[in-house]
Amino acid sequence: MRIIVVRNEKEAAKKVAFIVSSIIRKKPNCNLGLASGRTMIPLYKELVERKLDFSKVKTFNLDEYIGLKNNKKGFHSFMDKNLFNNVNIKEENVYFPENKNYDGIIKKSGGIDLQILGIGKNGHIGFNEPGSSLKSKTRKVKLSKETKKANKIGMDYAWTAGIKTIMDSKKIILLAFGREKAGIIKKTLEEKITKDIPASFLRKHKNIAFIVDKDSAKKLNDIKTAR
Ligand code: GLP
Repeated sequence: MRIIVVRNEKEAAKKVAFIVSSIIRKKPNCNLGLASGRTMIPLYKELVERKLDFSKVKTFNLDEYIGLKNNKKGFHSFMDKNLFNNVNIKEENVYFPENKNYDGIIKKSGGIDLQILGIGKNGHIGFNEPGSSLKSKTRKVKLSKETKKANKIGMDYAWTAGIKTIMDSKKIILLAFGREKAGIIKKTLEEKITKDIPASFLRKHKNIAFIVDKDSAKKLNDIKTAR
């Protein structure tokens, strides 16, 4: 497990974009696991600016609200706007969870080479809310009040890749920025591994990097800013 503290989100975006570009160069038909949310915006901007070749890449998004697939508030639209419309990805290579076959589709495609994650203030990853099990697979979930408030959304249900779906990825990078994530980053990294903080399960993964900015790292013991 690596914890990398960077000065700001731009620096984090550059680091991750560099990793993504080397994966695509080495394996043009790689499978990327992608997330939505504000945290991802600087990264997707970097990826677009690098003009990477997405022509053979497959992407697997983590989640989507039920009922918002064709709505501008949904994650499909978020991804189109911030990434897919601005790179040469093929529409048929873009996947979102919308039924329980998702894990099977990922497996058949060869598994996720790199999964990028954000984190909710309550420790959710994807829409695996507190209480989700380490063995959870892609499924329909009910969103917590806290998540609905944080995401300013009135929808009650979503499809999410499970914790197991995420943990099966070959490599994982979790990004967190800003003071509002400082409390959950401390719990995720330094307190006990528990289903009450789904992101804490990630510490069991053998190739996981947490890339956090100074503000979200400020409650951690002993942090050193990476250069
Ligand atoms: C959303 C998504 C997550 C995301 C998280 C953080 O609810 N389901 O995949 O990581 O919340 O969002 P943000 O980056 O906007 O803080």
